[in-house]
Amino acid sequence: MSVEQRDPHSGYLTTGHEWNGITELNTPVPRPVYLFLILTFVFSVAYWVLMPAWPLGSDYTKGLLQANDRAAVARAVEQAAAVRSAWTSQIAAQSFADIEADPRLMADVRRTGRTLFGDNCAACHGRDAKGTKGFPDLTTASWLWGGSPEAISETIRVGVNASHPDTRVSQMPAFGRDGILKRDEMESVVAYVLSLSAPPPAGNKVAAEKVAAGKAVFAANCVACHGTEAKGNPELGAPDLTDMHWIHGSDENAIYANVWGGLKGQMPSWEGRLTPVERKILALYLIDLRAKRP
Ligand code: HEC
Ligand code: HEC
Repeated sequence: MSVEQRDPHSGYLTTGHEWNGITELNTPVPRPVYLFLILTFVFSVAYWVLMPAWPLGSDYTKGLLQANDRAAVARAVEQAAAVRSAWTSQIAAQSFADIEADPRLMADVRRTGRTLFGDNCAACHGRDAKGTKGFPDLTTASWLWGGSPEAISETIRVGVNASHPDTRVSQMPAFGRDGILKRDEMESVVAYVLSLSAPPPAGNKVAAEKVAAGKAVFAANCVACHGTEAKGNPELGAPDLTDMHWIHGSDENAIYANVWGGLKGQMPSWEGRLTPVERKILALYLIDLRAKRP
């Protein structure tokens, strides 16, 4: 069929095939390719011998180096748990004040608290804990249920209007919807509430002529929860209405809507979902955030 022919230009043999005067060169595979194949083969044989490689039914070849990532991870987890238990047991045993005074423990609180807060609380309170409409800012000195570490940890444990048997319970009546107050009474009391903050919350003008009437409506309907000075009551979760922190909006319309329709905040209970140490860390984390705020 074919006669050995040499291409006069390249000096290579041709395959002997010819199509319309075009012949095919029989170019040899370049030497570096053979070298590469040999090297990868040698590497793979060495790897099979040294490392776990071949399945043997229920077992596998372990390799001369006995490498085992699973055991290495288990060892690392064990070590981390040992390091962690050293400081978590200190958190469990010590008082809030002692932990706050210990910069080393507080560094652990900040690190772990940030993760715990991000995983469990940020969905409602925001990653920076500054809250949004309907969810309180947890970095201020203004607390519905008290701002001591004990009060904060109790709120986290039982929740607010939650399913826990000891839950904190609060509800602001719906003065408009339930027909407790008339429209002009609500307008006056809103003017009075706005007049309590000095200066009144941005964007509002206080209707001065309504404030006196509003004060009387407030005294008759609101002081039971918000207090005679409107400074709030942590027993009832009623907020201070004289400060600059508003959970549900600070403009006249929002305040009117809240007086009209009432409010019932809900915060889940974390007992059972977070350990006592984790809840203690979160309470300390929040105290620390507040301390950092100017
Ligand atoms: C489903 C939304 C939601 C989640 C999740 C949530 N909270 Fe709350 N939290 C609220 C609401 C709403 C309130 C206000 C309750 C009220 O009206 O009394 C609140 C109130 C609080 C208060 C009391 C604030 C005060 O002024 O006294 C603390 C403390 C608190 N949350 C901490 C946490 C922590 C810590 C987590 C995570 C473990 C968390 N919250 C997760 C909704 C949530
Ligand atoms: C039975 C107790 C109770 C009474 C009575 C009550 N409140 Fe409240 N009020 C609350 C509670 C509890 C909250 C907080 C609810 C929440 O954040 O979920 C609240 C919240 C508010 C807020 C929202 C504050 C914010 O930060 O956004 C305003 C405004 C307010 N009350 C005004 C009034 C006025 C005006 C009256 C009287 C007409 C009144 N309240 C009567 C319990 C009460």
